[in-house]
Amino acid sequence: MILVTGGTGYIGSHTVVQLIEAGHDVVIIDNLSNSKLDVLDKIQEITGVRPLFYHIDLLNMDDVERVFNQNEIKAVIHFAGFKAVGESVQIPMAYYQNNITGTLNLCMIMDKYKCKNIVFSSSATVYGLNNISPLTEDLPLSATNPYGQTKLMIENILKDIYVSDDEWSISLLRYFNPIGAHHSSLLGENPRGIPNNLVPYIAQVAEGSLEKLKVFGDDYDTIDGTGVRDYIHVEDLARGHILALNYVFKHKGVEAINLGTGNGSSVLEVIKAYEKECGKAIPYEIVARRAGDVDICFANPQKAKDLLKWEATKTLDEMCRDSWNFMVTTRKS
Ligand code: WQD
Repeated sequence: MILVTGGTGYIGSHTVVQLIEAGHDVVIIDNLSNSKLDVLDKIQEITGVRPLFYHIDLLNMDDVERVFNQNEIKAVIHFAGFKAVGESVQIPMAYYQNNITGTLNLCMIMDKYKCKNIVFSSSATVYGLNNISPLTEDLPLSATNPYGQTKLMIENILKDIYVSDDEWSISLLRYFNPIGAHHSSLLGENPRGIPNNLVPYIAQVAEGSLEKLKVFGDDYDTIDGTGVRDYIHVEDLARGHILALNYVFKHKGVEAINLGTGNGSSVLEVIKAYEKECGKAIPYEIVARRAGDVDICFANPQKAKDLLKWEATKTLDEMCRDSWNFMVTTRKS
């Protein structure tokens, strides 16, 4: 049995689908703070299997223990956590409590039940502002907001756990910019309120619920002056987790691994790709830079290729097409 925390969320749900398709039994823990229960119906519709689900919070250790008591968990893929950068600046205590305490509770129960295999959902945000792309895993790490701090702190906690007990097997997956949706259009990203991230925002402009996109700066030292990021299809990302799981089953230790395509796209390139896929113009205006943004951020994905035999395969056009198809399907239902 594989435990997926945050398994009804955006990346979690795509990973659960691929775990089931790979023949794993899956149990999900989620507090539904940023996802909906009907994701389970969609997972069932895609795979024919309804994963076991516990509506619980990692902050409640007794509840977490009950899951380990009732199931023979061999490994955990840990997604559950708050993830909005701006919000983390407003309510840092909630971020530290939820992300850090939740992870500590999980690790303590894992230790108690001798389940020492974990794949952790980290982020390229741990590379901070001063490293030059392409980013490799051995660069110095830093964080510029409480959300990023929690990712960095959890990476360090997991490294310390391994130092204390070399039976652990830990994979720290550093995601670049996950976008897109399941090719069935049944799963995707459906943020509450006004989206913070570029592609969910563009999707709502295309669909008509937002008037126009604000492009944060056109005076960066990039191909067209707008920020460059490494956008990765969520299904490619999910596949990376299945391979990382296979890896932790075979190798003890701690490995940080980038999951990115190795290619950067500018904001204007993303707008153009999205316009092509949705068949509409995306109105936008250039505004001031957003505080804390870097000009260019993309991965060196060689380590994932070497260790996991993983490579991203889907193009920016496919990412935009799946994002748009999901938006159209969701608005209809
Ligand atoms: C992408 C590009 C913006 C919105 C953030 C977090 C990171 C990770 C993913 C996850 C940038 C520009 C954006 C808009 C714009 N967190 N942009 N107008 O900042 O690379 O990464 O999300 O859980 O930790 O930092 O992603 O999608 O916000 O921005 O012009 O309305 O689009 O300036 O160049 P980012 P993003």
